[in-house]
Amino acid sequence: MTAKTDSKAWKESWETRCREAKESLAGHATLEALEALRLKYLGRKGSLTELLKTLKDLPLEARRELGGPANAQKEEILGLIEASRGSLEHQSREREIAGTRLDPTLPGVPSPQGYRHPLTQIIAETADILGRLGFSWAEGPLIETNYYNFEALNIPAHHPARDMFDTFYLKLAPKSPEAAGEHGNLLLRTHTSPVQIRRMESARPPLRIISPGRVFRHEAVDATHSAVFHQVEGLYVDHHVTLADLKGTLHAFMQALFGPKTRTRFRPSFFPFTEPSAEMDVQCLFCSGSGCGLCKRSGWLEILGAGLVHPNVFKAVDYDPEAWSGFAFGLGIERVAMLRWGIPDIRMFYQNDIRFLEQFP
Ligand code: DAH
Repeated sequence: MTAKTDSKAWKESWETRCREAKESLAGHATLEALEALRLKYLGRKGSLTELLKTLKDLPLEARRELGGPANAQKEEILGLIEASRGSLEHQSREREIAGTRLDPTLPGVPSPQGYRHPLTQIIAETADILGRLGFSWAEGPLIETNYYNFEALNIPAHHPARDMFDTFYLKLAPKSPEAAGEHGNLLLRTHTSPVQIRRMESARPPLRIISPGRVFRHEAVDATHSAVFHQVEGLYVDHHVTLADLKGTLHAFMQALFGPKTRTRFRPSFFPFTEPSAEMDVQCLFCSGSGCGLCKRSGWLEILGAGLVHPNVFKAVDYDPEAWSGFAFGLGIERVAMLRWGIPDIRMFYQNDIRFLEQFP
């Protein structure tokens, strides 16, 4: 055999193997088959690899002629194999995804949801109901002076009415002697009524406000008493405000709060800052008036205090009691919530036990 025929045979053999490789590349179906194919032709002992090694035995001229194109074909086949591997891998991923397809009709995994505290809910509802009757929100400080909490509300020192309130007095020194002088000792407000005074001092009548907030009493804590609790104060001042206005407003308020069938009644009472004074009862929500343990067999539950603003209160804020009249009321938020939901112990509101709080969505 001549060098020429050697080269020719080599070229033919190379081209046959290349064609074969390309043909079988078209027919393979799996990644495994593809890898077997790569090894068969281009692995360390692959038929193309082996043949390429023999190129060095050919004459220089033939090597020059055949080497470049052979290497280019080898690269081409390698490129085809890699492209094929890419598309097979893609297909296999697609199959995997298709097998574990997302089912949008499955129920979702719920994430824990928070709710508004029951007291916050009652305050918001109160503001909403009375807001529709024209009352706007007002706030006052929790640390009050003797003057706003008592004096201006017609509760002078040593008046027996002070016994109604077990007061937390503060040892805090007032900021200036003047502040101490006229307005007296600092204390934690025992009711929301001082907001009436603050509001009337800063605005001229007519006015209609509600003032929800925290109040403090030096009291032994039990199922129905807490040293910290919440009230909503209401105040309406205008010309010719009467007891009938008070009754009508409160009746509508109670029906919105406890339901349209709620019955109410007025009882005479005493508060230093109102004259006349009254307390409102709602018919027992548990026995509907027939008498049970909760209403102490009376059929009625005491719910709030109220009355027509005392002339001395108007004088304290420089309103002319001859020209203006008004009504005021105050109710305990905890009591409303306890009646609404049948909560037996006031302490539950402050323990932040999630099992309790979750029950008021
Ligand atoms: N401040 C009273 C209390 O804490 C509640 C009250 C009664 C408020 C009568 C009023 C009212 O405005 O007119 O017991």
